[in-house]
This record gives sequence, structure tokens and C-alpha cells, in this order.
Amino acid sequence: MKVTVVGAGNVGATCADVLAYREIANEIVLVDIKEGVSEGKALDIWQKAPIDLYDSRTIGSTNDYTKTAGSDVVVITSGLPRKPGMSRDDLIGTNAGIVKSVTENIIRHSSDAIIIIVSNPLDVMTYQAHLTSKLPRTKVFGMAGILDTARYRAFLAEALNISPKDIQAMLLGGHGDTMVPLPRYTTVAGIPVTELIDADKLNAILERTKVGGGELVKLMGTSAWYAPGSAAAQMVEAIVRDQRRVFPVCVQLDGEYGITDCYLGVPVVLGKNGIEKIIELDLNVHEKALMEASRKAVREVMDVLDKLG
Ligand code: NAI
Ligand code: 2OP
Repeated sequence: MKVTVVGAGNVGATCADVLAYREIANEIVLVDIKEGVSEGKALDIWQKAPIDLYDSRTIGSTNDYTKTAGSDVVVITSGLPRKPGMSRDDLIGTNAGIVKSVTENIIRHSSDAIIIIVSNPLDVMTYQAHLTSKLPRTKVFGMAGILDTARYRAFLAEALNISPKDIQAMLLGGHGDTMVPLPRYTTVAGIPVTELIDADKLNAILERTKVGGGELVKLMGTSAWYAPGSAAAQMVEAIVRDQRRVFPVCVQLDGEYGITDCYLGVPVVLGKNGIEKIIELDLNVHEKALMEASRKAVREVMDVLDKLG
């Protein structure tokens, strides 16, 4: 399998590294616009192979998309990250142009690839890539929910003093402060989480999760990369190994959840064809109201993109 990662910055290079050392793809192409950076990072990942014992081959390319030809899966991470004081939506002007031109280049050389968007603002950049690629929605979707649920699961594991491996969770909505974590669908080895933690503590964790990206931006002066890179690699793995994993993924909704023409995170089955199925949960009145607030917030930024043309 051949996987291209566009953007050899913090998230892209981490994703390529995980793809290599976990042997998720045997051929990985890392592309960046900055001269030499992707070649250097790809070489560094390749030189780690004898230490970590993998044989996946990573090569770099400075904006030469011929090297990406025939990719099965492409991960787009190119674009500006958030800086302190910025929201993800502040990135739209610059990142929309980058995601558009990258998608055009990708489609020119890999017309049938499955595309995973990581660049922010995530839901609207997924819209941009979907518009540009003209691929079906099952083949162009965004990574955010795996990261957001991972943050939620990590906070819960810490509060309960148990392994994060045993926490399952689902989350809906946009990748922003209006995301919709679902405590009703959170279990610890099958036990509803509400039986193990006070409502107040759980609410505090839900609120911390919603601003989990911002917490890291404040600490580091830029946004996170280890968990985001691994989250994107986990989506690639589900596709190339046809695992049919159930993940929250950002996709264009077309009537699901009573929503049309908006890009939001919902549970899907991810396999060799990309999104094999969208799972519709029977939401209660409170959850529906939160989902509607998230839809409105994403739709507003989609309208900004529409105006930008
Ligand atoms: P970074 O600044 O470390 O890397 C971005 C890379 O994109 C740079 O190396 C830059 O040279 C490259 N780039 C810019 N324009 C390009 C073009 N036209 N073609 C190819 N490469 C180009 O940023 P980082 O931390 O890797 O974040 C990347 C993006 O991912 C940001 O938009 C960030 O907000 C987003 N992000 C999204 C997450 C999610 O959950 N969806 C989580 C974390 C970050
Ligand atoms: C994150 O959630 C900023 O989207 C990025 O870490």
C-alpha cells in the first residue's frame, strides 16, 4: 500500500513516523513546500528502521507530486497551526488556499485515492477538499473525533486511575468548542461511566475535552502533534487493513441526523472503501440541541468559505 502525507510539519511527520514504525504502509511519501524538509524527515524516519525494526520505506518530496502517483490513501496536514489567542476558524483564509491546491495536485496523480483531512478548521477544510476533489463523500473525510475522544478518554483514565485501553467513547459534531461528547455512550469495559464517576467530575472532564486543543496551544505556543499524528495514522490503518473500525469521523451529512449539506463528526465504519457506513444514533432532546448548535457553528464557517469563493 502507498500512503502520501502532505505537510511534513509536526502532525504530518509524526503521522508518517507512526505509519512507518507500525508498518501500516510499505511505501510512504512525505510532501512539503519547504525545500528539503520532507526529504530530511523521511530520511530520518528511514534511518530509524534498523533501530525500531521495520521495513516500510519513507521518501520525501519538495512539492513534486509525481512521486505521490498511485497513492491509495492521502493525509493532508499542510497549513498553518493555531497560535495562542487564535481559534481554528482564524486559519480559514490561508489554509483553504493550501488545501485546495494540495487536493488538486493529489487528484492529478492519484485520482482514486481516499483523502483524510487534518488541516484546520477541520470541518470546513474537509468541505474544501471534498469540493475540489469531486470524489464521493465516502472517500474524503476529516480526522478530529479520534483525537477529541482520545483526550476525553485520557482525562477519564486519569480521574478513575485505570488504563485508557478500557475506556470506550463516542463524540459527535464539529472539531471546536461546540463538539458533542456523549457520556451516555461512554463505558469502562462495558460499565456505563456514570456508574463510576460523579456527575460534577464528569462534567468538568467534558468541558476540559471541548477546549483540549486550546489547552495544549497555551502550553506549547502551537497546536498538538503526537496524538493528532497517531489519530490520522489509525484512520489510515483501518482503511489499508480493511478493519471496519468504528470511529467518529467528519463527513458531509446528507440527511443523517436530520442534517444536510454540513460537515460534522459522526460515528462511521471505516474500511477499504473509506466510509463504509454512517451510524445514526437515536439522540435525546439535549443531544439534538447540542448537535444543532455545532451544525450552526460549522455552517457559519462554511459560509465564510463560500464567500471566499
Ligand atoms: P506545522 O506548521 O508544523 O506543519 C505544517 C506544514 O505544512 C509545514 O511544514 C508547511 O511548510 C507545510 N505547508 C504549508 N503549505 C503547504 C503546501 N502548499 N504544500 C505542502 N506543504 C505545505 O503545523 P502542524 O502542527 O503540523 O499542523 C498542521 C495542520 O493540522 C494545522 O492546520 C493544524 O491546525 C491542524 N491540526 C489539526 C488537528 C485535528 O484534529 N484535525 C490536530 C492538530 C493540528
Ligand atoms: C487540536 O485540537 C488544534 O485542532 C488542533 O489540537
